[in-house]
Amino acid sequence: MASNMKYERLLQPGYIGKVKTRNRMIKSGAAMLYWHEDETDVPENMMVFYEALARGGVGLLVVESPTIDFPFGRRWNRRYRIDDDKYIPGLKKLVDVIHKHGCPTFMQMNHDGPWQSMWGPTPIIPGPPIGSSPTTLNSPLDFHNEPPRELSIAGIGEIVDKFANAAVRAEKAGFDGIDINAGSSHLLHNFISPYWNRRTDEYGGTPENRARFLVQIIKEMKKRVGDDYPITITINGIEIGQVMGIDNQSCITPDYARKIAKILEGAGADAIQVRSHWLGRHTSSFMTEAIFYPEPPVPLEKFPPEYNRKYWGKGANISLSAGLKKVVTIPLMVVGRMGPELGEQALKNGEADFIVMTRRLLADPELPNKVASGRLEDIAVCTACDTCIDAGGVKRCRINGALGTDNLWTHAKPEKKKNVVVIGGGPAGMEAARIAAIKGYKVSLYDSQHRLGGMIPMAALVKGTEIEPLPDFVRYFENQLKQLGVDVHLDHEVSVATIEALKPDAVIVATGGLATVPDIPGIDKPIVVKGGEIHKKLKTYLGFVGPELLRKLTKFYLPIGRRVIVLGGEIHGAELAEFLVKRGRHVTIVDTGEFLGAGMIMHLRQQLLIWFQQKGVKMLTGVTYEEITDKGLILVDKDGNRQTIEADTIVTALPLSPNTELAEKLKGIVPEVYMVGDCKEPRLIVDAIRDGLQTGHDI
Ligand SMILES: Cc1cc2nc3c(=O)[nH]c(=O)nc-3n(C[C@H](O)[C@H](O)[C@H](O)COP(=O)(O)O)c2cc1C
Ligand code: SF4
Repeated sequence: MASNMKYERLLQPGYIGKVKTRNRMIKSGAAMLYWHEDETDVPENMMVFYEALARGGVGLLVVESPTIDFPFGRRWNRRYRIDDDKYIPGLKKLVDVIHKHGCPTFMQMNHDGPWQSMWGPTPIIPGPPIGSSPTTLNSPLDFHNEPPRELSIAGIGEIVDKFANAAVRAEKAGFDGIDINAGSSHLLHNFISPYWNRRTDEYGGTPENRARFLVQIIKEMKKRVGDDYPITITINGIEIGQVMGIDNQSCITPDYARKIAKILEGAGADAIQVRSHWLGRHTSSFMTEAIFYPEPPVPLEKFPPEYNRKYWGKGANISLSAGLKKVVTIPLMVVGRMGPELGEQALKNGEADFIVMTRRLLADPELPNKVASGRLEDIAVCTACDTCIDAGGVKRCRINGALGTDNLWTHAKPEKKKNVVVIGGGPAGMEAARIAAIKGYKVSLYDSQHRLGGMIPMAALVKGTEIEPLPDFVRYFENQLKQLGVDVHLDHEVSVATIEALKPDAVIVATGGLATVPDIPGIDKPIVVKGGEIHKKLKTYLGFVGPELLRKLTKFYLPIGRRVIVLGGEIHGAELAEFLVKRGRHVTIVDTGEFLGAGMIMHLRQQLLIWFQQKGVKMLTGVTYEEITDKGLILVDKDGNRQTIEADTIVTALPLSPNTELAEKLKGIVPEVYMVGDCKEPRLIVDAIRDGLQTGHDI
C-alpha cells in the first residue's frame, strides 16, 4: 500500500500482537446504534457501513461495543448484544464481510456502569447505576447526576466473567481481537480514576488496586481465548477536573496514567489507545475540538501542558501518547481529531505507533485508500460538526449522505445520457451535480454568486472556521465538480429563458430558501436589520474576500448597535447571537417557541446555552410579539407580562421558507424538474446533502 512517500509511516504495515495491519490507520469503536437490542442478525445498514470502511483500506476496524451485561451494561437503546451465544452467527456474517476486504477487525467492549439510569421520563435500566463508589458529579453535560450503587466484590467477579464470556463469543464470531474501553467515564475508567474510586478495599487506594478489575478482565479473557489473542485497552491519558472546580491532581494525571499503562502491559495488554477526559463534559472530551466551543472552558494558558491545545482539538492527545510510549513497549494508538498530516508527523516523531480516527472515516470511508494513492484532495472533509453523534435517530453525516443507509450507492451508468442543469451551487446543488456527473450525465451548474457554496460562506462567517472548516467543505466540492467535468457557471442568474435556450433533459432546482420576515407591526423601521438583507449585502464581500478574512474584519467594524435583539432562537439565531456576543454586543434572544437552539447538536447547544448564561445573554422564549418601535421590541412574555426590550438594533434570524417559484415555472418546459435542498424544504446541511445524493442518484 505504501506508494505515497509523503505518508510513508502511516502506510507502513504494523502489528498489534499477532494481528498484522495493512497500515497504521485504525477506525475506533463508535456506537452507531443502528441495531435493535433484540436483534440477533446484523441489520443491512450496519453491514453496508462496516463493509464500506473495510473496503476503504483502513488498517484495523474496531466494531462498536455490544452489551456484555444486559441490562446494566448499557445506557443506550439500539445497542447490539453479546451476552448470549445466539448472537454469534449474525456477528460472524459481519466479520466475514469485513475480512473479505483484507481488513482485520476487533470488537470493542465496555460497560456503561455508573452512567445514570434515568434518561428523560423512562429509565433505561431498572434501579440505580453501578460504580466503584457512590460518587456523583452534577453537570448537564454528563451522565453522573445519580449516585451509583457500589459494586460488591462478588459483583466485580460476575462482570469479569461476563467480559470473558463475551470475548469467547467474539472470538467464535471471528473477531481478530478485542478493544476494552476503559476510557471516557465508563465503569472500568470509574475504577481506575482516583476521583471516582473512593474504595478502601483491594479495588481502591493505589493504582494497582484501582486497575485490578481491568487486569482481572484481561487475564480472564486471555485465559479463555488464548494468550496470543490481542487485547487493546483504551484509557484516558489524563482526567481534567478543573472545569468542575476539582483539583486535577485528584484525578488521573499523566504520571498516574503512565503507571496504569505499565500495569496493563504487565497484565498482557497488546496495545494502548489514549484519549482524554474532562470531568463533567462527556461528549466534548472525546470530540476533542468541541471542548473549545463556544470558547475554551478555561483560558488556554491554564490547560494542562500535556493536553495539546494548539490546534483547536486536533491531535489533543499526542503528548499524552508520547508520554505513555516512554514507559511501555507495546504499541501506542492515539485518537482525537487525527488526520493524515498530523498522524504522519506523530508517527515520525515517535509519539505514537498508530493513529485512530472515527469521524474522518465516517465522512469518507475511502480515506486510507485515497491517502495511499495520493488523492488527498478527493477526501470528503469532516467538518467536525458532530452531527454524527447527535442523540436520537439514525446517525447521519453532513458530507457523506450515504452514512446510515442500507444502499451501496453504486450510481450505475444509465442507458441514456442526459443533459442536466443544476441551478444553485449550495450543498444540495453541488452534491446533486456531483452524483449526476458520476453517473455519466453531462452536467452544468449555474449560480448567481461569485463562489460556490450557497449559504456556507455565510455560515462560516458566523460560526468561524477554527473548529468547523466549512471552506474546506466547499473546496472539496469545487475540486470534485472540476474533476468530474461539471460545467460551472458563476455570477450567472438563471431565468426561464435561460433554460428554454439550454433545452436540458432535466433541471435540478437548488436555489435555496427565502428569507422569512415576521409579521410584526414596525418591522420595516430602520432599527430592524433583516436576515435576508444582511446576506444580500455580505454576498459580494464573501465572494471576494472569503469568510475567514471578513470574520476578522467584523471585529473592527460591524454596523450593528451595542444592544441587539436577535429575533428567532433556532440554530441561526443562536449562532448569530454567539457571533454578536463575541463582538461585544449585549444580546437578547427572543423566540415564540420554547426551545432555544433547535437544529443544533445536543452537546454543542447545551454548551452554548451555559455560555450565554455566563455572558449575561437574555433568553426569552414563548413570547408574543406586539410591536417594534424606534426604541426596541414590545412583547408579552410567557407569564403574560408586557415588556419593552430596549435595543439599538433588531436582527431577524428566522428559518427560511421554501422557494418553489422557479421550479413551478419550469414544469412543462423541461421534461424532468427536481427540487433539492432549502428551496424544497429548508433544513440543515446534512439534509441538503442527503437530498442532493438521492436526487443525483435517482435522476
Ligand atoms: C457517533 C460516534 C459514536 C461514538 N461511540 C463511541 C463508543 O461507543 N466507544 C468509544 O470508545 N468511542 C466512541 N466514539 C468516540 C470515537 O471512538 C473517537 O474517540 C472520537 O470520535 C474522536 O476521534 P475522531 O476525532 O477521529 O472522530 C464515538 C464517536 C462518534 C462520532
Ligand atoms: S457528521 Fe460532521 S463530524 Fe460527523 S463525520 Fe460527518 S462531517 Fe464529520
